[in-house]
Amino acid sequence: MREFYFQNNELWCENTNLQTVVKRFGTPLYVYSKKSIIDHCRYIEKAFGKTDHLSCYAVKANMNRTILSIIATEGIGCDVGSIGELYLALEAGFLPNRITYSGVGKRFDEIEFALKKNILEFNVESEGELMEISRIASGLNTVARVLLRINFDVEVDTHPYITTGKKENKFGVDSFEARGVLEKAIRLPSIEVVGIHIHIGSQITNVETFIAAAKTVTKFVIDLRNSGIPMKHLNFGGGFGVQYHDFISHPRLPKNENHAESEVTVANFIEAVVPILAESKCKILIQPGRSIIAHAGILATQVLYFKKKTGRNFIIVDAGMNDFMRPTLYQSHHQIIPISLREGEDQTADIVGPLCETGDFFAIDRQIPKVEQYDYLALMCTGAYGYVLSSNYNGRPRPAEVLIDGENYKLIRQRESLTNL
Ligand code: LLP
Repeated sequence: MREFYFQNNELWCENTNLQTVVKRFGTPLYVYSKKSIIDHCRYIEKAFGKTDHLSCYAVKANMNRTILSIIATEGIGCDVGSIGELYLALEAGFLPNRITYSGVGKRFDEIEFALKKNILEFNVESEGELMEISRIASGLNTVARVLLRINFDVEVDTHPYITTGKKENKFGVDSFEARGVLEKAIRLPSIEVVGIHIHIGSQITNVETFIAAAKTVTKFVIDLRNSGIPMKHLNFGGGFGVQYHDFISHPRLPKNENHAESEVTVANFIEAVVPILAESKCKILIQPGRSIIAHAGILATQVLYFKKKTGRNFIIVDAGMNDFMRPTLYQSHHQIIPISLREGEDQTADIVGPLCETGDFFAIDRQIPKVEQYDYLALMCTGAYGYVLSSNYNGRPRPAEVLIDGENYKLIRQRESLTNL
C-alpha cells in the first residue's frame, strides 16, 4: 500500500523514478500512485469480512475525476457534500444507489438534483433540512431516504477545526432532540427514515475514541428501534486517522518520534468497531476519505532559494500555501524529503513558500538532509485535502496532477495557465 520508496537514494513511486516525472511536468506537482489507491480500497473492504456494509469514499478528500473513477471501479460507494461532488461522482461512474449525501447546508437545488438522480440516501443535519427535503420530494412525487446525523458530544483528540461531534459544533442534531425529530420524520409522507449517521471528526488516531462512539451509537439505534422507529442503516462516518510522521524511513532521513500518532491503521479501526456496530443489526456504512487517499499522493516542489536571517535558515520552495494549505491551516506535519538524496550534513530550516504571508510555510525548524538550489522535494502524504483546498491566491495558477501506474504515468489534471486566472 506504500508505493513511495527509496532506491539508490532516489525516490520512486511504483516502478517510476520520480525525478523523471517531476522534470517532465514541472513543479509544483501532485503525484499519485494508482496501486496505492486501489490497495487502500481493498484493504478497507477486507477489514469488513462478511459484514453487510457499504463503504462510501468521501469525495471531498480528493475529487480528481481519474481518481474518482479508479475508486468507483473498485465497486464501493461514495459520500458527496455538494452538487459539484455529486456531479463528478456520477460522471466518474459511481452508481446512484451507492451515493450518500452529507452536509449541514444543502441548497434546495442540490436536494432536487440528488432526488432526481435517485441517490441512496441523505444524511440529514437538522429538522429544517428534513422539512425541505420532504417538501421537495413531495413536489417530485418521490420518497427521500434519510438518516439523521446525531451529535453525541464526544471528546476527540484532533485539531479543533476538524472535530465535528462536539455539542458546540454545527453538525448534526443533539442526541436528546433526535428522537423527537425522528418521530416527526416517520410521519412525513415523502420521507423514509432509514437510520442514523454520525461523523465525529477527522484524523482521529485513537481506537478507543471510535470504540466509545460505536458503543454509544449502537445503543442509541437499538433503543430507537425498540420504540418503533425503523433502523436499517447505521452510518459511522469517516475520520480514520493516518500516519503522517516518518512515513518513509531511510537511514539518511531524520526521525521524528515526538508525535501522538499510533501505528494503527484503518483496518484496525474497522475491525475494532464492526463487532460493536453489528449488534445494531443494521447495514453498516462508513465514509472514509483520508484513509483511502492520503498515503497515495505527494506534492513535489523545487528549491528556489536559501536565505539566512538572524537566527533562522529558510529554504524557499516554489509551492505555497495556495497549493497545499494543511500545514498553515491545521499546523499539520508532513514529512519533507529530497527526491534525490545527496551526501552531506543535514540542515535545519523553515521550509516556506513564495506567498506574501508569514503563514505560508510547510515546516518550521525542520531537520532535513542536505539540499541545494534547484533540487526537488517531496511533501509526503498529501493525497487527501491537498489539491482540493488549493486556490489562486497571489495570482498563482493551480498545480498539475499526475497518476503513476507501474512504469507508466499520465497527466490527470493540466497545470492551470495564466489565462485561467
Ligand atoms: N464524512 C463526513 C460527513 C465528513 O465531513 C468528512 C470530512 C468525512 C466523511 C471524511 O473524513 P476523513 O475520513 O477524510 O477524515 N481538511 C481537513 C479535513 C476536513 C474533514 C472534513 N470532513 C484536513 O485536511 O485535515
